[in-house]
Amino acid sequence: MDSKNVTVIGLQWGDEGKGKVVDAVARSCRYVVRFCGGANAGHSVHVAGERFALHLVPCGILHPGVVNVIGNGVAYDPAVGLAEVLELRKRGVAVGPENFRLSASAHLVMPWHKLQDSLIEQSLGDAKIGTTGRGIGPCYADKALRFAALRLGDLVRPEEFRAKLAAVAKFKSHALGALYGAQPFDAGKIAAEYLDYGRQLAPMVCDTGALLREAVRKGEKVLFEGGQGSMLDVDHGTYPFVTSSSVTACGVPAGAGVPPRAVGYVVGVAKGYTSRVGSGPFPTEQDNEVGRKIRERGKEYGTTTGRPRRCGWLDALAVRYAADLCGVDELALSLLMDGPGEISTLRICTAYELDGKTHAEYDPSLPLERVRCVYEDLPCWKASIGPARRFGDLPAEARAYVNRVEQLIGRPVGLISVGPDREQTVRHHTRLEGLD
Ligand code: IMP
Repeated sequence: MDSKNVTVIGLQWGDEGKGKVVDAVARSCRYVVRFCGGANAGHSVHVAGERFALHLVPCGILHPGVVNVIGNGVAYDPAVGLAEVLELRKRGVAVGPENFRLSASAHLVMPWHKLQDSLIEQSLGDAKIGTTGRGIGPCYADKALRFAALRLGDLVRPEEFRAKLAAVAKFKSHALGALYGAQPFDAGKIAAEYLDYGRQLAPMVCDTGALLREAVRKGEKVLFEGGQGSMLDVDHGTYPFVTSSSVTACGVPAGAGVPPRAVGYVVGVAKGYTSRVGSGPFPTEQDNEVGRKIRERGKEYGTTTGRPRRCGWLDALAVRYAADLCGVDELALSLLMDGPGEISTLRICTAYELDGKTHAEYDPSLPLERVRCVYEDLPCWKASIGPARRFGDLPAEARAYVNRVEQLIGRPVGLISVGPDREQTVRHHTRLEGLD
């Protein structure tokens, strides 16, 4: 390994079980950093039978001695973020400047972003993206637009913040009023609300890029925690049915303010099948009884929105594409089927067919909604994998499935999750250090 840093990225359409891997790696790290997305992300971590659902606080918050960072690439909704901090404190988890830092350059999700998100979705009708409704797209759009954006660092200068917010609120009131008949925004009220958030967050707001670059220089271990999944990346995913930030490992340097080599060892997390929330093409989707069975077994309902997830078979082309893009060093497999169940055969998509032509590799320019999947069938195991702690404990069919995934993706499977609890992890070919 060139650097001891670790980056954990989802290789599908999100919800791959990254939180559990981040949680396992975090204990040996000094920093855990979010670099993309915002409150659209939702990570569940189980500790001692307790479930923590985190949206805007990195998973490392549950580990003493870890500094958790919201990088500049995050769209930060202070209403959601602060509520989460207060809830953690209520449950006995200390959260303060010693273990939580937010970038002054992270963009603020404002009330108009959330309104705009839902108004755009409503106006799109059947063509809607199926967003999480957290104002993510409009916030990043304003970031790119520049003049209508506000950042966390603006909150620490109240007079300037009020003036800037008044100008943006005026523009947004005009724009959303003209386009959708929306009511004007009350700039004074919003400023007061946000400045109150600012007062509470101020001790934790800083130049996190400088902090992390210094950590990298000193050789302190940093973990970059991916949000969403590679196939939802704004540049490389199934555009336009994607989120609005760079969620692959390529997004780490820009979204955290560190040099590219700081990305370190890349762990790509994939499920044993595929799920997707929201609209957009999904070649291996099983919109049928099989999909329903997968959803029920995997409890595939959104952490953030509670929406039932669309489910289907593993798509080896998409995972290999994402693994190549992210420079994945090892895979972590989660949510393998846990027998005994009603599914006797597992399918893996190994090629797409389109207009009489076979495609062995994922190609983002293909009209995915029209491809037909070529499948390889493998027998599903009958016994429960939950108690397995070593690879040899897994049923033979499960071992064969893992071996086949390694071959198809061309990367070693390092970790295999066999259940939600921390100890339910099989270490297979992992080169990760400090997992104990
Ligand atoms: P947005 O990020 O809320 O704009 O949503 C855009 C698309 O990304 C929608 O299809 C969402 O369902 C999907 N998405 C965003 N965040 C997540 C996530 O954390 N897990 C799974 N899907 C997500």
